[in-house]
Amino acid sequence: MNTHRSLAHVWYPCSQMKDYETFTPLKIVKARGVYLYDAAGKRYIDAVSSWWVNLFGHCDTGLSRALSSQMKKLEHVIFAGCTHEPALAYAEELLRVAPEGLSRVFFTDNGSSAVEAALKMSFQYWQQQGHARQRFIALTGAYHGETLGALSAGGIKLYRDVFAPMLMKVRFAQAPSCCNCPFGKTPELCGAECFVFLEKALEKEGTDTVAGIIVEPLVQCANRMNMYPAVYLQKLRKLCTREKAHFIADEIAVGFGRTGKMFACDHAAVTPDIMCLSKGITGGWMPFSVVLAMEKIYKAFYAGHAKNRAFLHSHSYSGNALGCALAREVLAIFRRRAIIRNMAPAVSLLGTLLAGLGKIPGVVHMRQTGLIGAFDLVNPTTGRPFDPRKRMGLRVARAAIQRGVFLRPLGDTLYFMPPLTIREKELSTLVKITGTVVRDTV
Ligand SMILES: Cc1ncc(COP(=O)(O)O)c(C=O)c1O
Repeated sequence: MNTHRSLAHVWYPCSQMKDYETFTPLKIVKARGVYLYDAAGKRYIDAVSSWWVNLFGHCDTGLSRALSSQMKKLEHVIFAGCTHEPALAYAEELLRVAPEGLSRVFFTDNGSSAVEAALKMSFQYWQQQGHARQRFIALTGAYHGETLGALSAGGIKLYRDVFAPMLMKVRFAQAPSCCNCPFGKTPELCGAECFVFLEKALEKEGTDTVAGIIVEPLVQCANRMNMYPAVYLQKLRKLCTREKAHFIADEIAVGFGRTGKMFACDHAAVTPDIMCLSKGITGGWMPFSVVLAMEKIYKAFYAGHAKNRAFLHSHSYSGNALGCALAREVLAIFRRRAIIRNMAPAVSLLGTLLAGLGKIPGVVHMRQTGLIGAFDLVNPTTGRPFDPRKRMGLRVARAAIQRGVFLRPLGDTLYFMPPLTIREKELSTLVKITGTVVRDTV
């Protein structure tokens, strides 16, 4: 029996527990800015924003103040039959910055629950319109969370295969694959020719049977940071409008500045019918999420009691006042500190640093969207992918952790998604250390 205390009773998520026998979880005792600190005082750059949630560095004082102030007034109240100022104000403030046309905020409590609510909302909308639109289309490699509805719309075999018999039927369209474009296009010449796969999937499914098409705009993060251009989203908006299917944007990972704009859909200047937000929504402080919807969707649920049209989707912590207060403060910080404008130099520096990293033998498919950078590792001699059993990505990440950079690989893909407030010096250190360990390990 393993007697290490961190392994004695706790079962960690997304982990093969046996792996921890050789590399126990880092025990973090405090965190400030981009740094995590262990008990010995060693610090680590949080290169992955603690699973993409942290926006402004750890223990931000504005968020700390907002939370403690709200704690003294109201921590939580049932959000059906009761309401409160933080939720009302947050809905107003969020809609001011959200893509134009979204007008309703439905509160959920984590990313997966937001996706569940979005799918159910779309499904029930069509029921109440008297249409038999019951199917969803998603992209291969998609990740929308791991509850059963969200997992059904997920295209990553690793997560879905074992649960396949429990999942609802979703049709998958081949996702964009810009590192290996099937049409041989370069980013400059790309007109999202691969959108044809989605059109074909819709055609096959039957245009009048599809309730919605769900995508992660611009970056399929869990799919090894698979990035694609905004023109794809423009085509999707047009298609959904023409065929009357809901465009469901899962901006849970890419929302709140990660891509260099407030929301990834802003790059395409499109408004989805339904949009899911979580992760950075509270700056990484609390589980919280929302589903935004257009007015036409909301209206389909608005009727006399006898019609039984209410959206009966509820979570105990829906509209949590502490979450709302934090989420409001996140928006206030974006405004007060002009985060989007001020992150531009870091975005550009990341581009320069990645170009340098891309010269290391064994590093391929360098890609960047906003402050997200990613690359793949291949055998430098053959140029071919490593045997997955070698677990090269994991080896590099472990070596980086030993040198003070917390990386978490996606197979043999390594990526950076640091807090938006990372300083240029910290970014340089992060990429430099990664370069060193890649050279030493691959
Ligand atoms: C795009 C996307 N959607 C949904 C989720 C699920 O969010 P949560 O882990 O909070 O359930 C994630 C989590 O990584 C995600 O990246």
